[in-house]
Amino acid sequence: MAPRKIIIDTDPGQDDAVAILLALASPELDVLGITAVAGNVPLPLTQKNARIVCELAGRPETRVFAGCDAPLKRKLVTAEHVHGKTGLDGPKMDDPVMPLQDQHAVDFLIETLRAEPEKTVTLCPLGPLTNIATAFLKAPDIIPRVQEIVLMGGAYFEVGNITPAAEFNIYVDPEAAEIVFKSGVPLVVMPLDVTHKALTTRPRIEAFRALGTKPGTMVAEWTDFFERFDMEKYGSQGAPLHDPCVIAYLLDPYLFSGREINVEIETTSELTLGMTVADWWRVTKRPANCLFIGDIQADGFFRLLTDRIGRL
Ligand code: RIB
Ligand code: CA
Repeated sequence: MAPRKIIIDTDPGQDDAVAILLALASPELDVLGITAVAGNVPLPLTQKNARIVCELAGRPETRVFAGCDAPLKRKLVTAEHVHGKTGLDGPKMDDPVMPLQDQHAVDFLIETLRAEPEKTVTLCPLGPLTNIATAFLKAPDIIPRVQEIVLMGGAYFEVGNITPAAEFNIYVDPEAAEIVFKSGVPLVVMPLDVTHKALTTRPRIEAFRALGTKPGTMVAEWTDFFERFDMEKYGSQGAPLHDPCVIAYLLDPYLFSGREINVEIETTSELTLGMTVADWWRVTKRPANCLFIGDIQADGFFRLLTDRIGRL
């Protein structure tokens, strides 16, 4: 079977980095390109970090594009308090040597979706949805050409992580999220409800370190750094590996379960801005617009992750 064509849209971020490594280690996936967006840290750092991760994966030929450096209508909110100043704090990382593509990420998204046969490219947003929404606004003809969007973002039972009501990726650019959730593209959502069940416990981190490879050691050191924030805040046994859930779903969807429901985005109330209003109990007549994932087989997820990272 031909590998599945994907574009990863990302704001690395340690968890984004693990997701990129998983994708590049998996022959079932053909990563057509990686588009960086401002999010966890500003764009100059997210595009640099994306290239650092591609080189760590031994894939310097991967095309990395810089996209939008700010949300559609709002001031950028970043998350250095979680990811550190560089966005990849933890281990010392050398600057990348591989080039950044000249083309803007939004133009790459449009050009690729127009060039590839329709409904053969899956978009995998791991950060704020600014690049995707900007491409949809600039070239509405590409919307029906997208095979599927599998994204990390939102929350319902888990409520927010950047405000009491909102998850970070949606909160940073709620207008962009509204465009994506209303686009009609087949949508799979990995909210905090599921990613908070993918925790990097000590044995799971040690399994990465035990690989004895540079990627394995980097993943262990990233999660060592990344978990301190969530353990302090939630008292949890480790950090949630949010973004790798998106790639793992593509590799083994049976690791996950959820419901086809309606999800709308709060874009006006300052109190609940960026909230994903998920009609989990179907109390409204609003039509379902996404598969909203609520559960994960965490052991199977970490087995897949460790096996694949071990191949790099
Ligand atoms: O809320 C978690 C999400 O925000 C993850 O994608 C993390 O990388 C940050 O982008
Ligand atoms: Ca991210």
